[in-house]
Amino acid sequence: MPGQHVKTHIAMIVCVCLCLLAYLSWFSPEPDLSTSAPVSDSDSATRAAASEGAASGTAPTPAFVPTPDPESKAGAPAPDYDSAQSLTVVVNKHRPLTDRAYVPADLADAAGVPLRAEAASAYLQMSVDAAAAGVGLTAVSGFRAADAQGLLHDSYTTNYGVSTAEAISARAGFSEHQTGLAVDIGNNDGACSLQSCFAATPAGAWAAANAHRYGFIIRYPDGAEHITGFTYEPWHLRYVGPDVAQKLFDAGITLEEYAGLPAAPGY
Ligand code: DAL
Ligand code: ZN
Repeated sequence: MPGQHVKTHIAMIVCVCLCLLAYLSWFSPEPDLSTSAPVSDSDSATRAAASEGAASGTAPTPAFVPTPDPESKAGAPAPDYDSAQSLTVVVNKHRPLTDRAYVPADLADAAGVPLRAEAASAYLQMSVDAAAAGVGLTAVSGFRAADAQGLLHDSYTTNYGVSTAEAISARAGFSEHQTGLAVDIGNNDGACSLQSCFAATPAGAWAAANAHRYGFIIRYPDGAEHITGFTYEPWHLRYVGPDVAQKLFDAGITLEEYAGLPAAPGY
C-alpha cells in the first residue's frame, strides 16, 4: 500500500537523523572551562606552543628573549679601526697609515713625550696613581713621525740584522707611534728598559695590572707575535680608551682579535 510505504520512509529518515545527532554529540569536544578566562594573544601563543611540545613529547621551548648587553650603548657607532684620527685605529704590518706625513693635530705633553691630548691626560693620571702606589713610571717615547721611525728602524737593522729589526721595530708608516696613541714606558731606575724583563720590574708589573683602567693596553703581548707581528713588548702601551681596554684586558686578546681583523705577522 502506498500510504504504508510513505510512513515507513518517514520513520527511517527520522531514525537516521536521531542517530546522526547522537553521533555528533558524542564526539564534539567539551569547552575547557579552566581556560575560559580571557587571555592575551601572547598567553595563548605560549600555551599553544606548550601544548604542541607536550603533544610531541618534548619539553616546551620558551620564546627566545635576547639578553641586553648592559655595556652596549644604544646608537653608539661601531669602532673606527681605519681612520688615523680614531682612538681605535689599528695600525700593523698590513695596515700602514695612509698618509705617511700624518701628524696628530692635538699632540700634548705627557711627562716629556708627545701624545694625543686624551692619551696624554690618561697617561698623566696613570702616572700620578702609580706614584701614589709607590711605583715610578717614566715616559720613554711617544709620538714619532714617519721619518724618525724610519731612521730608528734602519738603526735596528744595522745593529741587529733584518730579521730582529723586523720583529721589534715597525717600518716607516707602519708604526702606531705615529698615531700619537702609543707610549713606551720605563721603570724610574731604567732597569730592563725596552727589554722583556721590564715586565718583572715594579713599573712593568703595575702597568700590566692597571694600565687598562686608564685606557691603555699592552699592544704586543707575550706569545702573540703571530698575530701582531712583533715580539713581546711589555713597555709599549697603546691608548684605546677605557671601555675597549677593559674588554681586551678581560678577554686577554689582541687588538686585531678584538677588531675581527686578520693576523698581521708580516708585511
Ligand atoms: N716597536 C714597535 C712595534 C714600533 O716600532 O712601532
Ligand atoms: Zn713602542
